[in-house]
Amino acid sequence: MRHPMFSYDEAFTNSIFEYCRDRLEHDAPLDFGMHSPVPLPSLEGMITEGGRAPSHILEFFRDELAQHVVSIDSPRFLAFIPNAPTKNSLLFDMVVACSGLNGTSWLESAGVVIAENQALEFLAERAGMPLGSGGAFVSGGSSGNLSALTVGRDVGRTRRPDIAAHELRFAISADAHSSIGKALHVLGIDPLLVEPDDHRFTRANLEKALAADPHPESVIGIVATSGTTNAGIVDDLEGLGSFARDHELWFHVDGAYGGAALFSDQRDLLSGIRHADSFIVDPHKWLFGPLDCCALIYRNPTLARHFLAQQAGYLDVLHSGDEDHYDWNPSDFAIHLSRRARGLPFWFSLVTYGVHAYETATQVAIDLARRAARRIEATDGLELVRPAGLSIVLLRRVGWTEAQYLEWSEQLLREQIAFVTPTRWEGEMVARLAFLHPDTTDELVAEILESMLD
Ligand SMILES: Cc1ncc(COP(=O)(O)O)c(C=O)c1O
Repeated sequence: MRHPMFSYDEAFTNSIFEYCRDRLEHDAPLDFGMHSPVPLPSLEGMITEGGRAPSHILEFFRDELAQHVVSIDSPRFLAFIPNAPTKNSLLFDMVVACSGLNGTSWLESAGVVIAENQALEFLAERAGMPLGSGGAFVSGGSSGNLSALTVGRDVGRTRRPDIAAHELRFAISADAHSSIGKALHVLGIDPLLVEPDDHRFTRANLEKALAADPHPESVIGIVATSGTTNAGIVDDLEGLGSFARDHELWFHVDGAYGGAALFSDQRDLLSGIRHADSFIVDPHKWLFGPLDCCALIYRNPTLARHFLAQQAGYLDVLHSGDEDHYDWNPSDFAIHLSRRARGLPFWFSLVTYGVHAYETATQVAIDLARRAARRIEATDGLELVRPAGLSIVLLRRVGWTEAQYLEWSEQLLREQIAFVTPTRWEGEMVARLAFLHPDTTDELVAEILESMLD
């Protein structure tokens, strides 16, 4: 007889599919996070010896817990960096879940690996990286940055054996994503913090910082961003990348958010990614895949495998033969071992909708940001803080205090109009609109801007 946890319950399975169908059919309701008008339910006594009826707990989830979660995939979610998974990517995520699809090794999952690799190769080619570039899908930008910088550090150590490991540094901009600082902290590497030029990290600024530094030789790598999170600014990838090439430095490009602009009319701004030793872009951001998914791509994946592959007696079967000719195990290219086939929903979506659909969907957000910027400039009482950067717009309500920005943000959510959170720009609190979902409308933008004038 089957163990009860492994027996098939047709009625409950249908309830789950019904719930999922409903979510797929309609725009995600914005819902509430911590600002829900009703209190969080108690979970006391929920876990029992004998378990509870799954249909009741699904209802409890739908009616109670889910109400306290803002839907990141709603076209009204314009905070942080939203997530807008395509229908096919969500459906295929269910396939990955229900098939328990493991994407750890070639031995176990060659069929998954070739599909994931096709998606990675496609992204690498778009980014202008050479044939043979590759890596793995990891859980997110933070984890992709950490793995990439680990390889960069280890390569730097071998290039500079004359310098104590703890003295090696990476040059980063003050506007780099917080995960870069955190990765360097984990790696025990100090940053050479370069003051950017109007928030853009350029070769000229780097050269100035190195000239003023007492130990420029300790810099082993450069981290650039193709689309800063706060303002969508693309660093001087061409200048920084060619500097890195000329000086044998590791060049990492964090395109977690803005790497997707490779599919837009801003593509030329990103052409310097072709110099990258490592590059990340998150399908779970602006490439319309479900959480959690980051494409981590190395120019020379063999190097990454050399430093990151886990070795153990029980894993030897994955690594037989000559290191240069190992089979392709996604587990070898990042700080992880077991992994779900998280790249497959993105692959399935890309293959089924085609590249043109990705280009048009990405462009929608950029065009909307430009129109929003024009509307702000034409509205008395509002000021555009700077030109739209990719799909991000920063604006100021003249005269507002920080408390007013926070109250406005809460009220928009309370009224289920939009989720918009303020940010800090050069010390000042301002409003920030991060467009991403292709179904976000000009009417919504107008409503949000009008709400700042009330
Ligand atoms: C430029 C950039 N890098 C890294 C990250 C971190 O990505 P994740 O949240 O997937 O860890 C973000 C997140 O917004 C980002 O915008």
